[in-house]
Amino acid sequence: MENLKVGWTSPSNIALVKYWGKIPVQIPANPSVSFTLSKAKTSMTVFASPSNLKAVDVDFYFEGELNEKFKTKIVKFLETEVDRFPWLKEFHLAINSENTFPHSSGIASSASSMSALNLCLLSLDEKITGHRALTEDFFREASDLSRKASGSASRSVYPLLATWGEIDNLPETSNLFATPVKKNEIHEAFKSFCDAILIVDAGEKSVSSRAGHALMDNHPFAIERFKRARYNLNKLLAAMKTGDMNTFIEVVEEEALMLHSLMMTSNPSYILLKPTSLLLIEKIREFRSKTNIPVCFTIDAGPNIHLLYPAEFKTDVHQWLQKDLVDLKVVQNIIYDEVGLGPEQIKD
Ligand code: PMV
Repeated sequence: MENLKVGWTSPSNIALVKYWGKIPVQIPANPSVSFTLSKAKTSMTVFASPSNLKAVDVDFYFEGELNEKFKTKIVKFLETEVDRFPWLKEFHLAINSENTFPHSSGIASSASSMSALNLCLLSLDEKITGHRALTEDFFREASDLSRKASGSASRSVYPLLATWGEIDNLPETSNLFATPVKKNEIHEAFKSFCDAILIVDAGEKSVSSRAGHALMDNHPFAIERFKRARYNLNKLLAAMKTGDMNTFIEVVEEEALMLHSLMMTSNPSYILLKPTSLLLIEKIREFRSKTNIPVCFTIDAGPNIHLLYPAEFKTDVHQWLQKDLVDLKVVQNIIYDEVGLGPEQIKD
């Protein structure tokens, strides 16, 4: 057996209809859909060298330095995949991971890093067993594996727009892996959409997504929420096909605010939004009604605001951000991203 090397870059994604609540193991309580991002991504290389340890054995370097916290998480995940990849007990893995976005920038890194990891695992498997080629199945399995590591990571393996979870009348969708929305089902305006991430607070969030999902188990609004998410998903996909910007804005903002309302009405209740998040929402809505430029916001499980807008309004939006918002001195940093084309293999 020889030493092997593989590498992938994989992007983060931003959900438009949110996955919030799950049933064991990593099955979403409702389907979700996200834009795949372009600039916010993880670049990962894995060196595999034969070992006699007969156990999962990993060194994990994050941005050039050994990182024990991430290593523990990754070893725990890899141990669940030994049946699928028996060679995990025959190789030592040296994993090098870097993000293009600053650490603690408020961008969730689990979607990009867990999808990059699983793409690397499948590429290694290909080299070790000679079994598979880079086909549609490859990405489907990468999505399935990524889902098990971190639900939303399942959507990062596909370009532009991807759904995850069973959707009525779309037999190609599944709870086990994401499905790319076909290009001819996406209006041109959405294929180049922009996402300016307004960093309000880059610190670690006080309640993890894992704990947040669990609080949906006995949530008083759970049944209504899961129903509404299905309704919103169908409405959003239809709007994104025809280019109906008003419906897009209505659904995306409802989803963001509903996610946070669910947190506020959990038991125990918690609030991840900051006063600045609310101020930015007000400013965004004000700018939209004054200019008629179709900007809107979405929010992940944190205080930062993702400002979404069509590429044709880039100049106006950036001018406004620089002039008005930067002056307010409430935004720590702005990361300008846009819809992207999905993972790329790093060639030797
Ligand atoms: O993938 P997780 O378990 O970190 O959950 C992600 C949850 C949200 O980001 C809030 C929504 C989503 O669909 O990405």
